[in-house]
Amino acid sequence: MPQLTFPENFLWGAATSSYQIEGAWNEDGRGESIWDRYARTPGMILDGSNGDVACDHYHLWRDDITLMKDLGLHSYRFSIAWPRILPRGRGAVNQAGLDFYSRLVDTLLEQGIIPFATLYHWDLPQLLEDQGGWPARTTAEAFVEYADVVSRHLGDRVKHWITHNEPWVTGILGYKDGTKAPGVRDWGAALAASHHQLLSHGWAVPVLRRNSPGAEVGITLNFNPAVPASPSAADFDAYRKFDGHFHRWYLDPLYGRHYPADSVADYIAAGHLPPDGPAFVQPGDFAAIAVPTDFLGVNFYNRAVMRNTSVPEHENLPQTVFPAPRSEWTDMGWEVHADSLYELLARLHFDYRPAKLYLTENGAAYSGGLNGDGRVHDERRQRYLRDHFAAAQRAIAAGVPLAGYFVWSLLDNFEWELGYTQRFGIVWVDYETQERVLKDSALWYREVIAANGITVDSVDHRC
Ligand code: FCB
Repeated sequence: MPQLTFPENFLWGAATSSYQIEGAWNEDGRGESIWDRYARTPGMILDGSNGDVACDHYHLWRDDITLMKDLGLHSYRFSIAWPRILPRGRGAVNQAGLDFYSRLVDTLLEQGIIPFATLYHWDLPQLLEDQGGWPARTTAEAFVEYADVVSRHLGDRVKHWITHNEPWVTGILGYKDGTKAPGVRDWGAALAASHHQLLSHGWAVPVLRRNSPGAEVGITLNFNPAVPASPSAADFDAYRKFDGHFHRWYLDPLYGRHYPADSVADYIAAGHLPPDGPAFVQPGDFAAIAVPTDFLGVNFYNRAVMRNTSVPEHENLPQTVFPAPRSEWTDMGWEVHADSLYELLARLHFDYRPAKLYLTENGAAYSGGLNGDGRVHDERRQRYLRDHFAAAQRAIAAGVPLAGYFVWSLLDNFEWELGYTQRFGIVWVDYETQERVLKDSALWYREVIAANGITVDSVDHRC
């Protein structure tokens, strides 16, 4: 059977985030985060749960590093909980919080595992939210102070920094749809929140470079590569709008092109921005946001097939169409479509030319638990990963400088508003006992890493 091999030094990893795995929500001086508050608000989390304990990684981190070592991971992407470091958001530093991450980083390095640290994976200190949250420019200033404190402390050892994870989610789901913390529903706030995250990224990059000489610094965006549901002009327009709102609104300013004119016009027409454009942009902001970075982090799970619902015969149909059979959806209801990953990577490379790309998240939720034989037979996850690895390999062969791949997630964990109903881990977690069991996909991933490649049924030569 044909083998697909990856470049030498390709980084194979797995990813997690602080609120989703750590637990210990009120230990060692940690302050309250917007997710503590949101999860405690009745009706916000599907199963009524929260991240108070989660995978108890705050206490079990040594065992979790042993698991990583056992899998042969080259790298581990985790996030730092801002309220552990600065419980009030700004000002007084909590040494115990820094010490936790310092021990984690030291132990990873002792085991030969490269730490990739994300500074913001959604757990804003609640006190900063009370002072206006991301819609307020002062939160961008606070982020830079936080980035400074963390990188002064860890910058000698952490050499890969991700400023933000998915600013679209924080901005739009947090402040417009209200389906994620802090649960606000206001378009103007959402667009200001997105801007201030991008700005805080731009301001933080030079600080990280100063405190962490030789480090690679980047940002992670989420992508739902879109296609029109039909060749009609109406569906093409739905696709264009979605692509602008979801992707170009973030990519364009990061790569020096300001906000896309068509999306600005869409927002003005819809009344989401004032007629003379965004009031939150100040002189110098775009230059700051476009600061050169070393890589773009790519989170990819699924695509979006867009239908224009303002066409009368479509008005009661969903705007996103899933053409695949149900068997090819994950438990999230997300369509499995690996070709989109290839197309996405090629597009990013050819349209934006990031110096390097890392796939910072990719994976699938399938619930299957422990079998009678004490194993978790998650063939669907394994197939999902194999097909996406193959798509990534094809992109590399086409010239895309993809340098690493982080499977989401190392562990089953707290899936935000869906609580513990979704299991993304390659390691199964029993939330009662905190037992961890390597799923079959993890055992297979260990072989992939060892071989630096995968075996496929046939090779796809399309480029
Ligand atoms: C991404 C998030 C990550 C996880 C996956 C499933 O959007 O970054 O925390 O929830 O989705």
